[in-house]
Amino acid sequence: MAATTTAVVVAIDGPSGTGKSSTSKAVAARLGLGYLDTGAQYRAFTWWMLRHGVDVNDPEAVAAVAAKPTVVSGTDPLAPTITVDGADVARPIRTQEVTGAVSAVSAVPEVRARITALQRRIAGDAGDGIVVEGRDIGTTVLPDADVKIFLTASPEARAARRNGELTGAPGAAGIEATRAALARRDAADSSRKTSPLARAEDAVEVDTTELTLEQVVECVVTLVAQHGQQVR
Ligand code: DC
Repeated sequence: MAATTTAVVVAIDGPSGTGKSSTSKAVAARLGLGYLDTGAQYRAFTWWMLRHGVDVNDPEAVAAVAAKPTVVSGTDPLAPTITVDGADVARPIRTQEVTGAVSAVSAVPEVRARITALQRRIAGDAGDGIVVEGRDIGTTVLPDADVKIFLTASPEARAARRNGELTGAPGAAGIEATRAALARRDAADSSRKTSPLARAEDAVEVDTTELTLEQVVECVVTLVAQHGQQVR
């Protein structure tokens, strides 16, 4: 396929605690690309459901209102934003309440269909290209992405990172509790019927357990550069 544009689409998937967000933002900033956090979109839908008293464990109730929330994502990697019906939800979507409910809401096909369409629109409109992070970007949302990465890490490393992020003081929330919560969410996200968390066949797997953030970023930037040379 001849390259008629310099726009590059990078899909970065993997479970939480593997360094997806930090890596994706840093790669986008380094390469002058947009950045889309698709987990934030599922969290925003979940926040809306909780706010409107929808029973998040009732898939029919969630499906019935899936067309209602209007989610808008700002794609500047240095200052990403997210609003629902005009309200800034960047902070409330990170609460334990939302984290505990997001797997159930994101398993509902009507929710996924809406968010997937939104993600494709945003990626299609990104003139200079974009880094999109999530669980099903390389497999379902953007199967034609130019570069696909699947990040992994040991359960211990993931729990330690997530614990530090949650509390700002490693150890305060209990690594064991964090590890158990991550394992529960992984199991739910990987076993759902509609576009589960999965590695695309053509994705490059990067195990971040022993790597610094800078090393992971370097690795992804190199893969993007190699892609650029192939299509030139
Ligand atoms: O990346 P995160 O932890 O903020 O994602 C929150 C949840 O959203 C995650 O548990 C599963 C769901 N999710 C998804 O189903 N598909 C995506 N592309 C991104 C996130």
